[in-house]
Amino acid sequence: MLIITDRDIAVPMKEADKPEEKAEEFMRMAEGETQSLTIVANAPGMVFQYVLGEDAQHTLPFISGQCLNVLGISVETLRANPGLFMDIVLLEDRESLWRSMAQSATDLSTWNWEGRLWIESFHDVKWVSLRASPRREKGIGVIWEGIIINITQSRRRETELKESHERLREVSSHIIAAREHERIRIAQEIHDDLGGNLTAIKIDLDWLGRHLTDEDAVLLAKIHTIDQLVDRTIDSIRRMSRDLRPGIMDFGIVPAIEWEAEEFSKRLGIPCEVVCAQEDIELDQDAAVAVFRIFQEALTNIAKHGRASHVWVRLDADMSAKGWLDLEVRDNGRGIMPADTKKFNSFGIRGMIERAGLLDGKLTVSGAPGEGATVRLSIPLGPGPHDLATSRSNICPS
Ligand SMILES: Nc1ncnc2c1ncn2[C@@H]1O[C@H](COP(=O)(O)OP(=O)(O)OP(=O)(O)O)[C@@H](O)[C@H]1O
Ligand SMILES: [Mg+2]
Repeated sequence: MLIITDRDIAVPMKEADKPEEKAEEFMRMAEGETQSLTIVANAPGMVFQYVLGEDAQHTLPFISGQCLNVLGISVETLRANPGLFMDIVLLEDRESLWRSMAQSATDLSTWNWEGRLWIESFHDVKWVSLRASPRREKGIGVIWEGIIINITQSRRRETELKESHERLREVSSHIIAAREHERIRIAQEIHDDLGGNLTAIKIDLDWLGRHLTDEDAVLLAKIHTIDQLVDRTIDSIRRMSRDLRPGIMDFGIVPAIEWEAEEFSKRLGIPCEVVCAQEDIELDQDAAVAVFRIFQEALTNIAKHGRASHVWVRLDADMSAKGWLDLEVRDNGRGIMPADTKKFNSFGIRGMIERAGLLDGKLTVSGAPGEGATVRLSIPLGPGPHDLATSRSNICPS
């Protein structure tokens, strides 16, 4: 770091013996100092030397000309009153400035600070970054040499990016919640409307059958065929409503997972073992639906891509104040590669990660070719109910 004061910049480094050597040495040093001053003048910020005296006095022996650009204060004004710097630091950021300086003075570590200044001449707040190296000198105190740079642009971009992520998160949370509500509504309509009509058709078919004689054998056979078709349609409707809004969810997440695993086994003939130490895990509705949907997608993926002959499910939870829930779905199929999880037109894993993130949880998908695939979900079970609209992201695809 440069050590420069505006009073005495040419500090002899070494004594030269002969006059001509002295002259050469002087020329070299003068050249060096000029270069140093040029570097300081062109530095992308305000270079300074700051002294915290043994008598607790603050002085600024050197401040580069960028002072006016960075702080909106002239070099002379600031040198005459070093306290002005603290005055323009926003109240909320003053403590961190003091703390970082005190820490640096105590252990002589680099003084790093980022904070906001009120720049009167711009009528605006500016973000700055301060970085300085300290050393202790007997009889003087702690001396820092460093630089303050304007980081407003990058901070603004960072803030905008954060806000835009937050907005996206809110939209996605809204879409997920709206989709669940829509599913419930459609399930209800299918059940009430189509189910009701089909039951009425069955009653009419029964009536027709009773009013035909044995001589109408062809018509009776037709009625029988139609009746069977109606039964199959009622079964399909039940299945569709159940997929849209599994009624088993009303019994809790553990029975719902066990039931879904059993259905999967029956449908595909693949054993799906569920291990869960708890009889049930108390979850609020949003979290329960999210966990269940993640589980459904994990099973759907095994059915679609896994070519597995066995599936293991582990569900575990800690219900203490800082509790958590873990769900692991492992298969022994063809395995999965990291690139699979980022396929352009695939949204299942993305959706699982998104749902986990909305619960402040973490979802990973791992595996290797021939070694099966494992989906791991972990979510915190805080004291309050999860709020899909306000929860933050902490997602980690692997
Ligand atoms: N259990 C699994 N075993 C093997 N490969 C898997 C497994 N699960 C996922 N994959 C691979 O990861 C890819 C991405 O899965 P993802 O669920 O995101 O999309 P998808 O199932 O292809 O389509 P969808 O958007 O309908 O879910 C799959 O296409 C598949 O190649
Ligand atoms: Mg999928």
